[in-house]
Amino acid sequence: MTSHFIDLADFEGDVLKEILADADAMKSGAKPHADLLAGKTVAMIFEKPSTRTRVSFEVGIKQLGATPLTLRSEEMQLGRGETVADTARVLSGYVDAIMIRTSRHEIITELAKFATIPVINGLTDRSHPCQVMADVMTMAELKAQNHDFSGLKVAWFGDGNNMAVSWIEAAVKMDFRLDLAVPPALAPDVDLADMMQHPNITLTADPEDAAKNADVMVTDTWSSMGMPGGYSNSGDRQDLLRPYQINQRLMDMANDDAVFMHCLPVYRGQEASADVVDGPQSVIWQEANNRLHVQKAIMAYCFNT
Ligand code: CP
Ligand code: NVA
Repeated sequence: MTSHFIDLADFEGDVLKEILADADAMKSGAKPHADLLAGKTVAMIFEKPSTRTRVSFEVGIKQLGATPLTLRSEEMQLGRGETVADTARVLSGYVDAIMIRTSRHEIITELAKFATIPVINGLTDRSHPCQVMADVMTMAELKAQNHDFSGLKVAWFGDGNNMAVSWIEAAVKMDFRLDLAVPPALAPDVDLADMMQHPNITLTADPEDAAKNADVMVTDTWSSMGMPGGYSNSGDRQDLLRPYQINQRLMDMANDDAVFMHCLPVYRGQEASADVVDGPQSVIWQEANNRLHVQKAIMAYCFNT
C-alpha cells in the first residue's frame, strides 16, 4: 500500500513518534541519509505562496539524494480544468512522490486516491501536518524526554484554523493536553470525528483560562491564505481576535518556563506582540528549522526507508 502523509489523524501516535525519532537522528547526524532517496524525483505543487515549505522541502529532498521538481498549479493544466485524478495518474508515471500545498482538502484526498506514489500534505485549508510535526519535534527537544508528552499543556490562541486542527490531532494521537482559546464564531469548522470530545482537548473562549499552567503558547495568523483581504483582516475579524493576542501579559499567566511558538509568517502586533515574538521565550527559529529535519523523516517514512 502507498504510504501517504495527509493528516496526523490517519496515524497511530507511536508511528508519529517514530518519525520524530528518525528526524532527531537525521538532525544529530546519527542517521546518515544522503542516499536514502537516491535516483528519485519528488514533485512539489504549490497553489498558494510559501517560503518555509518550499525551501525546506527542496533542500530536504536534495539532502536525501533525490531531485526536487517545483510546479505552480496555475501553470499546470490543473489550473485550466484537467482533473485531479488525471493529474495524479500522469504524475505517478514520471515522479516518485508528490508534495502539494492546495486549498480544498478534497484535492489532496483525491490526488492520494488516484496516485500510485506517496502524497504529502504541505498545507490545505483543513490542516498543516508537516508544520505541527516540526512544532511537536521542537516541543520534545525543549520539554519532553523520549517523546513522552504526558503532563505537558499546550495552549492555542486565536483562529480555529488549519494549524489548530493539526494541533488537535497531534494532542489526541501523541497524548498531551491542548486548550484552545478561540472566539466561538471561529471554532474549528471541520470534521474531527470525536476528537473535540477527547479528554486531552478543551475548547474555551477565555484566553486566561487557556494560558494557566501552559508549557507552550502557540498562535497563528488571524487571516489564513485564501481568505479575502489577505493579512490585513477585516475590522470584524480583528475585533473578534484581538483579545486572543499572545502578549507578555498573557505569557506571564503561563508557566515561568513556557515557550512561544508560531508556524510563521507572523504579523507582529496582531496575533502576537513584537516583544513576545522576538523575546527570550520565543522558539520560532528552532521551530522553523525543524521543518527541514522532520520532513526528511516524513519522506523516509513514505518511502519506507
Ligand atoms: N509555516 C509555513 O508553512 O510557512 P510557508 O507558508 O512559508 O511555507
Ligand atoms: N494558517 C496559515 C498557515 C500558514 C503557514 C495559512 O493557512 O495561511
